[in-house]
Amino acid sequence: MKNDKHEQKQYFLHGGDYNPEQWRETPEILHEDLQLMQKAKCNTFSVGIFSWSALEPKEGEYDFSFLDETIANLASIGAKVNLSTPSAAMPYWMAAKYPEIMKVNVDGVRKKFGGRQNFCPTSPVYRKKVREINKKLSERYGRNENVLLWHISNEYYGEPCYCPLCKAKFREYLKKKYGTVERLNHEYWTAFWSHTYSSFEEVEPNGIAGVQLDWRRFTSENYRDFMREEIAAVRRYSDKKVTTNMVTAIYEMDYCKFAGDLDIISFDNYPAWHSPEHLHEAAASAFWHDFFRSLKNAPYLLMESSPGLENWKKYNKLKENGMDKLASMQAVAHGSDGVLYFQWRKSRGDSEKFHGAVVDHVGNDNTRIFRTVQNTGETLEKIAEIAGTNTKRAEVAILFDWENMWAFERSQFAGRKNYRGDVIEAYKFFWNNAIPCDIRNPHDDLSGYKLVVAVDLYMVGETVENNLTEYVKSGGALYAKCFLGMVNENDLCHPRGFPAGKLKEVFGIWNEELDTLYPGDMRKLSANGKEYAITAYEEHIHARGATVLGQYSDGMFSCEPCFTENSYGEGKAYYQAFADDGEFEKDAFERICDALGIKSVCGGVKEKTFGITAHMRTDGKTEYLFIENYTDEASGEIALEIPHEDMETGEIVTSVNLPRYGVRILKTKVKG
Ligand code: GAL
Repeated sequence: MKNDKHEQKQYFLHGGDYNPEQWRETPEILHEDLQLMQKAKCNTFSVGIFSWSALEPKEGEYDFSFLDETIANLASIGAKVNLSTPSAAMPYWMAAKYPEIMKVNVDGVRKKFGGRQNFCPTSPVYRKKVREINKKLSERYGRNENVLLWHISNEYYGEPCYCPLCKAKFREYLKKKYGTVERLNHEYWTAFWSHTYSSFEEVEPNGIAGVQLDWRRFTSENYRDFMREEIAAVRRYSDKKVTTNMVTAIYEMDYCKFAGDLDIISFDNYPAWHSPEHLHEAAASAFWHDFFRSLKNAPYLLMESSPGLENWKKYNKLKENGMDKLASMQAVAHGSDGVLYFQWRKSRGDSEKFHGAVVDHVGNDNTRIFRTVQNTGETLEKIAEIAGTNTKRAEVAILFDWENMWAFERSQFAGRKNYRGDVIEAYKFFWNNAIPCDIRNPHDDLSGYKLVVAVDLYMVGETVENNLTEYVKSGGALYAKCFLGMVNENDLCHPRGFPAGKLKEVFGIWNEELDTLYPGDMRKLSANGKEYAITAYEEHIHARGATVLGQYSDGMFSCEPCFTENSYGEGKAYYQAFADDGEFEKDAFERICDALGIKSVCGGVKEKTFGITAHMRTDGKTEYLFIENYTDEASGEIALEIPHEDMETGEIVTSVNLPRYGVRILKTKVKG
């Protein structure tokens, strides 16, 4: 981030959600906050997120005094504000006067006041109220030099609303998409089970697969439309940048589609550190960082993270010493230009009074967590020159598609279906070997990548089919694992066999049938003179031109192909027809990466155990290397190819040895 027009100094945002409306009766606390913020090296706060009842206590009666004071107070210590629109929680008077703004559940029951993210995204009344308050905020603060960004709403969850207005809007969406009800009947295959509709008005958002898929698409689009209306309102008097805080793994929101409406991507990340799945969580967290960075392929913001525990989880592990700095540097290593927390000061009451915060109930700086945050702040200051740089250009893209996830996980043809989990399993190889990866949508331009990985890409419509075909034809390597191209974009099976259309030629295979294994069942395959375990699935594929690199070695498909390679145009297509325990994929990816000359940013970590990795950011002149140890053991010596400067100590090092949960940030000039 650049400070502002006058001061072109690079710096990282450090701070978090600040909800001073809780402390208006105790001004001494607000005063203490300012002292503590400086001590913690915090410079940016998200304000106004759930402040509607303070800003508009009665309909049409606005009171901006608390925001005026807060922004001025923060400005007095040189801190900036991410100013939020308050739409995530409406005031009581509004819900009481306009009950139609509340969301309706699937059984037709309208929610009552209380909680948050409970509004109907279609409601014209709610949209009008949001536009009004957003315009007021824009008018008053839209040019305020202490306001850095617009923080639009808070975590649009995408939970659907089943009210008559939403359903009517859905039917309009279907009319626009299909034109005629006959077309819709065909695309939904309604002749089966007597589901034929005679008008759009009969379509309810449940039941058949095609409707459910479109209902999800519509719901996500409807929230996006709501967000765009919010953005248009703040833009009325302001040209400040806009973001909305997205969340990892939200099922209902197709975030791939949101990026174009936002200037800066931001997201909230709450991995289960120190859980039995700690190392998996570290890799999954890395995946989501790469996912959000890739949305714009530009620096983004970690908008929320917990400096301690998350009280909404079943088990509440504190971050052990070192973990907060490591988790924060993970964000920076992946391209975040900030480390922000939820929240600055612990609430005294209600839902989140036991959630981790920078300032605890004791209210001073003499706590373990405060010192940790302070330490992270110091590091961010020492490495400030990295802010604004991008990550090292990735040669590998992993595909991820929300619509595919919705269709695949709902489909009734296989046992365990875990799209996000399966994609992350494939990502782990690259993460662990410090190979930069982008996460791309299958519709994106893939031409710059040496290797593209498509896991469980069940839904392949014509555009994706052409995109993948073109990519391989012009020289790319495409690695697909299981379920490739079984249905089109409306969840209709492709006729003439799998994978879809031209992909049979691209991969040189035909996929005849799928066998699902019971949990605990194990089969085997052999490839490259080695035996590997198969879990969960095996597909019965036939080589139609492809070279067979691996064969099933037991079961009814024994001696038949299960891993193939095919040359198509200038490129190559690999097909893995089974789910494995990770071992096979590791060897296969290693061989392919070696053949394609795909490099790690730190060869030294490749020798190390799972959970020790590295990432790189660069401005083209200097390379910034982050070496991270997520394991609970010291890393041992990690050799560097050339000497680097440690950005925190100034030391020149040729190797590093990280303690448990340790991280080092090094730099070196780019040669030439
Ligand atoms: C986020 C939310 C915050 C807070 C936080 C607690 O999802 O945006 O307002 O509730 O979780 O972890």
